[in-house]
Amino acid sequence: RNDDRESMMVVNSWAADYFQHVLHDTDEGLSVGMGYFRERGFTDATVRKFALGYCPAKGDAMTMAALGAGYKEQFLTETGLTIKRETGGYYDRFTGRVIFPVYSISGRVIAFGGRVLKTSDRTAKYLNSPESLIYSKSHSLYGIYHAKNAIVRENFCILVEGYTDVMRMHQTGIENVVASSGTSLTADQIKLISRFTKNITVIYDGDSAGIKASLRGIDMILREGLNVRVVLLPDGEDPDSFGRSHSAEEVRAYIEGHEEDFIRFKTRLLMADAGDDPLKRAALVTDIVQSISEIPDPIVRSVFIKDCAKSMDVDEQVLVAEVARKRHSVQ
Ligand code: CTP
Ligand code: MN
Ligand code: MN
Ligand code: MN
Ligand code: MN
Repeated sequence: RNDDRESMMVVNSWAADYFQHVLHDTDEGLSVGMGYFRERGFTDATVRKFALGYCPAKGDAMTMAALGAGYKEQFLTETGLTIKRETGGYYDRFTGRVIFPVYSISGRVIAFGGRVLKTSDRTAKYLNSPESLIYSKSHSLYGIYHAKNAIVRENFCILVEGYTDVMRMHQTGIENVVASSGTSLTADQIKLISRFTKNITVIYDGDSAGIKASLRGIDMILREGLNVRVVLLPDGEDPDSFGRSHSAEEVRAYIEGHEEDFIRFKTRLLMADAGDDPLKRAALVTDIVQSISEIPDPIVRSVFIKDCAKSMDVDEQVLVAEVARKRHSVQ
């Protein structure tokens, strides 16, 4: 099993080199792949830093090159790089896509993401490596290897949704950033971050999916005892698009100016939604009580109870009692 894991990492490492070679040294890679990254405003330095690549559009070119170089079919299929056709022959999972290698904390390639060049209804925008012996999506974070030193140095971690968001932030000079890669955040991903810092700033996409994901994922961050802040981006922007149209100073200023404690953020959004409808307001209080009751530290809890009692115009003692009740019912 350990041998198999090692063999899979070795194949992935070869593949990452191959995809980079195709991107930088072939006509197809340069025109299609580099053309794509340049069009999106990514510099060659960023492309190199994240070891981005390109998989040729010719259905099985990567697999044939790997087999030719002596790599075994078994590990090509187990990593998901290669898919065996029922009719015989192979095809490359990532054929015709630009490639984002996913690194473990220690800097080994455990998976890949591949993006189509033109989005359409027929194919998923991103394809990812399947779960395997070496890759569990719910235990990994895109960018952690490139971010870990900066996370420790800055003592906080910025959490974004996607690959290009991580890249754009780096290109802007902000390196303490990782991506959940679209999936809803898991407790294991939080634990991974909490090895480096107890402070998370969530900057999800400024669309309804991003806002919903922030509200959903964050109770879990509270439960792990981390401090969570949220930055809401302008409507329709993600960190990549925002970073592309703003200077590094503007991005930093925006984050500093719009960072909001999570519970306040949630209270504000739900209050705006509830208006003066009493039933909705009651539901909102229940919801906020739930979030506060997730916080392990009693002092932090009581600070939030005070704060929320004021902003929701509810009696503080009622909140104290409700939070206590919630905590007892779950423990
Ligand atoms: N994602 C995925 N599969 C999809 C769509 C999204 O795995 N079909 C993941 C990717 O990691 C992606 C992230 O979810 O980066 C966020 O999704 P989205 O905001 O839709 O994509 P962007 O990162 O903004 O991608 P791009 O800017 O390249 O269009
Ligand atoms: Mn686990
Ligand atoms: Mn999104
Ligand atoms: Mn996005
Ligand atoms: Mn985007």
